[in-house]
Amino acid sequence: MLDLARKYQKSIGDQLGYHNVEFRRGKIQDLKTNPELLDRYLKAHPVGSVADLAKLESYENDIRDEQPLIADESIDVIVSNCVLNLVRPDDKRQLFSEMYRVLKRGGRVAISDIVCDEPVPEHLVNDPNLWSACVSGAFQEEEFLRAFEEARFHGIRIEELRSEPYQTVEGVEFRAITLTAYKGKEGPCIERNHAVIYRGPWRQVVDDDGHTLERGARMAVCDKTFKLYSQAPYAGEFILLPPHKEIAAEAAGLFDCLRDRRRHPRETKGEDFKVTRLSGSVCGPGSDCCP
Ligand SMILES: C[S@@+](CC[C@H](N)C(=O)[O-])C[C@H]1O[C@@H](n2cnc3c(N)ncnc32)[C@H](O)[C@@H]1O
Repeated sequence: MLDLARKYQKSIGDQLGYHNVEFRRGKIQDLKTNPELLDRYLKAHPVGSVADLAKLESYENDIRDEQPLIADESIDVIVSNCVLNLVRPDDKRQLFSEMYRVLKRGGRVAISDIVCDEPVPEHLVNDPNLWSACVSGAFQEEEFLRAFEEARFHGIRIEELRSEPYQTVEGVEFRAITLTAYKGKEGPCIERNHAVIYRGPWRQVVDDDGHTLERGARMAVCDKTFKLYSQAPYAGEFILLPPHKEIAAEAAGLFDCLRDRRRHPRETKGEDFKVTRLSGSVCGPGSDCCP
């Protein structure tokens, strides 16, 4: 795959008018280890004893820390097509935490892979042909989404799940799925009198921090959640109500994000808000109050 990509790098770059692409070899479940550096080390220091092996391991630890293949929080978007299911079951947890580590705050993943509707029986898991056909290592549908949740992604969404199976083996159906998910919901919860109203159509929704938002209700949210809801993938789902008077960051207290509560309009407007402003026109077709 890398040879193919590198072979056409120049001609495709010429056609697109961009030469800003770089290909790096690595394992998706270990984006710290740079195999090129390991290859170079092994050429100069072949391993012939346990002592050599210890030196190699020590070198590997050093390069992982000092020259990681992909640095922490350096990536805007991770795109992958049909690779995650090829990672060994024991490495799958690390696979998700590595994707999370390298993404910038606000970054996202767009992953296409294979999921199954039922657990894959053991004898199929151990079948090398089915493994390389992206079948044996498939995630169970819900397990796939849960893995992103457990790695702290938010706004996880199934963009596509084909109704037609890609393959069916002994009654287990395998389908192609495309999913997107975001990084960046961590951080302190600060009270700055922000409110949001969930538009619907569901009666209520629960976000990845466990906040329940009822349709039409003015709910109190922290500064961080307010910003999160104004961006993808939530933008447009909520009516955003900032306070009339901004609370300076240094004057703001902590917000209790474990408790859902409504925001009284007076908290948004201020207790001393006594403005009267009447519209000159009558509400109805052609007026400017009912767009
Ligand atoms: C099914 S192919 C998909 C290739 C490509 N993404 C595409 O859509 O054409 C799977 C590719 O993943 C690579 N691969 C397998 N295990 C991997 C791992 N742990 N980390 C990174 N790549 C891996 C394989 O070498 C192969 O090139």
